[in-house]
Amino acid sequence: MKHVLTRVVKWGQELLAEVVPAGGLVVDLTAGNGQDTLVLFQMVGKTGQVVAFDIQTQALLATRDQMVTAGAKVRLQQQDIQPLRCEAGVDLLEMDHAEVARVVPAAPQGIIANLGYLPGGQRELITRPESTVSALEQSCSLLADGGRLAVVVYPGHPGGAEEGTAVTNFFTKLQDSSFQVLQMKVSNRPQAPFLFVAEKWM
Ligand SMILES: C[S@@+](CC[C@H](N)C(=O)[O-])C[C@H]1O[C@@H](n2cnc3c(N)ncnc32)[C@H](O)[C@@H]1O
Repeated sequence: MKHVLTRVVKWGQELLAEVVPAGGLVVDLTAGNGQDTLVLFQMVGKTGQVVAFDIQTQALLATRDQMVTAGAKVRLQQQDIQPLRCEAGVDLLEMDHAEVARVVPAAPQGIIANLGYLPGGQRELITRPESTVSALEQSCSLLADGGRLAVVVYPGHPGGAEEGTAVTNFFTKLQDSSFQVLQMKVSNRPQAPFLFVAEKWM
């Protein structure tokens, strides 16, 4: 089998699953077509809460379809979004993830971000370094003790390398007294996606 060392999306999900309990609170910073949101929902189950962000209606509708098929209770909000309450189900929010700290209701055990553009969507609508780094800073503050943040970076598309540098700088500078950071990268394929996973302790 080819490219078996590049399954970073799957590995990020698996490393979150190690610490996310059933009934927990988890966040997807980039819902996209809902693959990660679905995996997060499967981790926390129907008694847990998933909060997923995207700036594109198309992405949230696709994610909603996945969640409904999976049997989740879905709440889709597209405007005038207020801070959420702790409540079992899946909250799909059409907003910039740079506002994550304003709306997430408690300390999540797992947060995921799969950066770049929506597969099958407009390639110009990509995640951007400024809002990405802001969302990651807030995510690190929000995380529960023992919680993990998993981020997959795609350096291969226009703008991706710059975002990769910004994300790498962010994780490299995280305080080692509060975070342990793992990076998975294919060293001889600079265009391949790579993964950061940060675990927090207090
Ligand atoms: C690679 S896709 C995510 C894939 C998704 N996790 C999945 O499992 O299908 C990246 C997504 O990030 C979204 N996005 C870009 N900038 C954003 C922002 N500032 N806030 C929230 N979502 C954003 C895009 O609209 C796109 O749907």
